[in-house]
Amino acid sequence: MTSRKTPLDATLDPADPSGWASLRATLHEAADRLLDHVRDQREIPVWQEMPDADAARITSLIGSEGAGVAEAWRALEEHVLPFGVGNVHPRFMGWVNGAGTPGGLVASLAEAAINANVGGRNSGAARVERAVLDWAKRAFRFPESASGILTSGTSMATVIALAAARQALADWDVETEGLGTEGARFRVYASGPTHSCVESALRLLGLGRRALRRIDTDGRGHIDLGVLRERIAEDRAAGLRPLAVVGNAGTVDVGAIDDLAGVADVCDEEGVWFHVDGAFGALAILSERLRPRLAGIERADSIAFDFHKWMHVTYDCGCVLVRNETHHRAAFRSRPEYLEGQRSGLAAGEPWFCDYGPELSRGFRALRVWFLLAEHGEDDVSRAIEGSVERAEYLAARVDREASLERLAPADLNIVCFRVVPRPGEDGDALNAEVVAEVQKRGIAAPSTTRLGGTLAIRCCLMNHRATLEDMDVTVDGILHVAEDLRSARGSPRVSP
Ligand SMILES: Cc1ncc(COP(=O)(O)O)c(C=O)c1O
Repeated sequence: MTSRKTPLDATLDPADPSGWASLRATLHEAADRLLDHVRDQREIPVWQEMPDADAARITSLIGSEGAGVAEAWRALEEHVLPFGVGNVHPRFMGWVNGAGTPGGLVASLAEAAINANVGGRNSGAARVERAVLDWAKRAFRFPESASGILTSGTSMATVIALAAARQALADWDVETEGLGTEGARFRVYASGPTHSCVESALRLLGLGRRALRRIDTDGRGHIDLGVLRERIAEDRAAGLRPLAVVGNAGTVDVGAIDDLAGVADVCDEEGVWFHVDGAFGALAILSERLRPRLAGIERADSIAFDFHKWMHVTYDCGCVLVRNETHHRAAFRSRPEYLEGQRSGLAAGEPWFCDYGPELSRGFRALRVWFLLAEHGEDDVSRAIEGSVERAEYLAARVDREASLERLAPADLNIVCFRVVPRPGEDGDALNAEVVAEVQKRGIAAPSTTRLGGTLAIRCCLMNHRATLEDMDVTVDGILHVAEDLRSARGSPRVSP
């Protein structure tokens, strides 16, 4: 499409009423098609790799001339829509991905129309984010005076939480001086299976990988509190500065929840910051059945968790809550003259979220969270969370009944780890990795893999609120079938289970 616009009339809006009419028609068509895409996920493969031809078409469409909205939508529908990650599909069980909701389309559309930059200023968008944060504080029984901010995910939430910890525990002007030699002595403690985002945060904050002390776990993946105490004592004796303990509310590999009340006791005794990584597990707080397992989380100094995981808010949306607002704000506040707050008008209002994280420009993620809660309420979310725990129990029981499968970890929450038992002479890790890839490529289901005690495990993380018990059986049947196919292709003898 050739543009004849001059710079002075070069708006990106349609040029005339007929342009608006065709944009409206495309928007309506897209809305219908996208809703069907979500509704009909079960009819399509859980995952398919994008062919190079589609990737080339996508590339060819971006250049100096635009194709117009109808053509751009057509290309999106044909070349992008079919090739998602798969997490909208009921048999996606890989990594830790939320599934989204159809109502999320409404919120995302409104988010685009409002197009708010929620770094600061006095807007409805800021009020919505405050409402969501107040809701989260109540859910975790944090004091009203606590602070928080929505983030891209738990990784960024962890950076912010540990920056607040550093601020709180440095007895020098860390904002001005940086870490210095004293800061290099900080140490952070977390169980072995703690997510890599904690280590990344420490690297980013200048504390370095070495600052992280990995603490042994008991047989069920929970941090060993005795060892934790010993390591802290050893470090103090060596002149180091224990800064924080990270407790897990759901480890990424197996969903283990640490004894959070026990961790809180250690932190109280030692005068160190208590941070909880609750990326997915923290929202189990909404379930009456699961809540007791999180006892102690309400004593944390900070909690990092995601709305895009077990609450299925459209990507991306995480959250950090910090008990002591002063430390949180001190770690990030930065208001040059042009961002000075005013008594009234658009520059009035507190808080400005740019004072609570490293980003000034921030999108209106809160709208997606607020909308989901307004549409479904806590009870629906809580039931969906309990549903995935029940599906995990069902899947674990089914795995335990299959002689050719073996479970590799307790399934205490929503994650089931197992493997196809290798036959004599078979490389179990290679076989199981291949089974997972093939099950994905055939579009049957999308589990992922991890390593437990060095052994490669098939990892089914059950987050998806669309999944059924039948999906668990289809997945296990698919895994067994694919394993046999791979063995026959290699000429290994078929053995009846
Ligand atoms: C336990 C845990 N912590 C942290 C993260 C990182 O979260 P995000 O991907 O939202 O940054 C994950 C991601 O799966 C996780 O499972």
